[in-house]
Amino acid sequence: MGKHHQLQLSSVASIPGVVHYLVICIFVFTVIIATINWHRDDKKLPAPASSAAAAAAALGEECNLFEGKWVFDNDSLPLYKGKGCPYMSDQLACEKYGRTDLSYQKWRWQPRHCDLPRFNAMAVLEKLRNKRLVYVGDSLNRGQWVSMVCLVEQVIEPHLKTMTINGSLSSFNAIEYNASIDYYWAPMLVESNSDDPVNHSSPERIVRVESIERHATHWTNSDVLVFDSYLWWLGDKMKVLWGSFGSPDAIVKDVDMPLPYEMALKTWAEWLELHIDRAKTQTYFVSLSPTHYRAEDWGGTKGQNCYSEIEPIENASYWGSNSIVSLMRIVERVISDLQAKGLKISLLNITQLSEYRKDGHPSIYRRQWEPLTKEQLGNPISYADCAHWCLPGVPDTWNQILHSYII
Ligand SMILES: *[C@@H]1O[C@H](CO)[C@@H](O)[C@H](O)[C@H]1NC(C)=O
Ligand SMILES: *[C@@H]1O[C@H](CO)[C@@H](O)[C@H](O)[C@H]1NC(C)=O
Ligand SMILES: *[C@@H]1O[C@H](CO)[C@@H](O)[C@H](O)[C@H]1NC(C)=O
Ligand SMILES: *[C@@H]1O[C@H](CO)[C@@H](O)[C@H](O)[C@H]1NC(C)=O
Ligand SMILES: *[C@@H]1O[C@H](CO)[C@@H](O)[C@H](O)[C@H]1NC(C)=O
Ligand SMILES: *[C@@H]1O[C@H](CO)[C@@H](O)[C@H](O)[C@H]1NC(C)=O
Repeated sequence: MGKHHQLQLSSVASIPGVVHYLVICIFVFTVIIATINWHRDDKKLPAPASSAAAAAAALGEECNLFEGKWVFDNDSLPLYKGKGCPYMSDQLACEKYGRTDLSYQKWRWQPRHCDLPRFNAMAVLEKLRNKRLVYVGDSLNRGQWVSMVCLVEQVIEPHLKTMTINGSLSSFNAIEYNASIDYYWAPMLVESNSDDPVNHSSPERIVRVESIERHATHWTNSDVLVFDSYLWWLGDKMKVLWGSFGSPDAIVKDVDMPLPYEMALKTWAEWLELHIDRAKTQTYFVSLSPTHYRAEDWGGTKGQNCYSEIEPIENASYWGSNSIVSLMRIVERVISDLQAKGLKISLLNITQLSEYRKDGHPSIYRRQWEPLTKEQLGNPISYADCAHWCLPGVPDTWNQILHSYII
């Protein structure tokens, strides 16, 4: 382990003034099975189970968990210590990489009319006993998976948990519970030339919008599925492939967005419709995760980005210019169609609450896979990561919301 590669999201970076230098970095692992010793910190165990009534009240019709504000709360947060989680990703370990202002770990999401049930790792594990939860998607989804693993692993003895990484599939297992919390790399959900979990940099992205089977075999029969896919679709056009990669009679065409996104989601939805056990599987789609590359969006100076931001945005109606509502509407439509067909599927509507968190990104405090140049070092804004999220941090809230659905 430890080899690494980097990817320029070229079509994203090509949108003028929107996302410059967005870099997604990936660990390369050969197949490893790691059981890592870690002594748990008894002081920070989650509170006892919130009562069923409280949880029900929290999810009652009166309450919209996605509407509210961030409240500074250094008593109950963070929910785990970044340096204590053996499965932390160096891409998200902001404290380890030198961020000294840690207030980004201490903002609690406060829905307007209710409280978010406190995260209960034991209850999640109990719900997942003999079950499998799989996160499927891009690196934002992987960050949410790392968050979930860190949230639950702290209540499990070192010898009773394993992490297995095999190609696109990473699997955390709580042995006593026979519970799996997995992540599968499929940044566009359907097949594409970016499917290699290690080497997915490519001068031009090609998507096979009608093919999902090769990915789907890895999550068939799961009990809980959590999908996302947005960032890789930014751009005016997408190359769409009909036929197989490398086949002489395959056809590649430039198709204007958002049609390719719509086609891919349709393929995805048809797969769910045909293969999901409606009685068993709960499915979630995580809405767009916002980026903070344009400080003018929040009244900052043109040319600045999330670099050096240490507080959330207070403007309740704030919406970033890189959060494309028309793409979100496509997801919402596909999901409501699936609901109408009887699938248990919900949108985790985390966009607005995450929009406020310009302070929550790694910025320059993460592992850099390539040495930085003098020019970059002289201008930190140029290489700040304003797309991913530090952990502990914003994705813990996404999981807290997911947890309130699961338990
Ligand atoms: C998502 O939540 C925001 C904030 O409450 C709300 O404005 C928006 O309408 C919601 N979207 C959906 C599809 O529910
Ligand atoms: C928590 O935050 C409050 C308000 O900002 C501050 O007065 C207090 O010193 C903080 N406590 C700790 C332990 O950091
Ligand atoms: C262990 O969990 C898997 C799902 O991840 C399930 O298919 C299997 O039946 C479980 N084993 C037992 C003994 O229940
Ligand atoms: C890794 O995954 C492949 C299929 O993708 C499977 O054939 C192989 O057995 C797996 N290896 C291990 C060690 O689980
Ligand atoms: C990555 O994949 C591309 C083709 O998709 C290939 O040309 C290149 O050699 C690969 N790089 C590495 C380091 O494997
Ligand atoms: C709040 O945000 C909205 C949407 O981004 C913007 O139109 C409005 O001008 C902002 N208000 C203030 C006071 O900054």
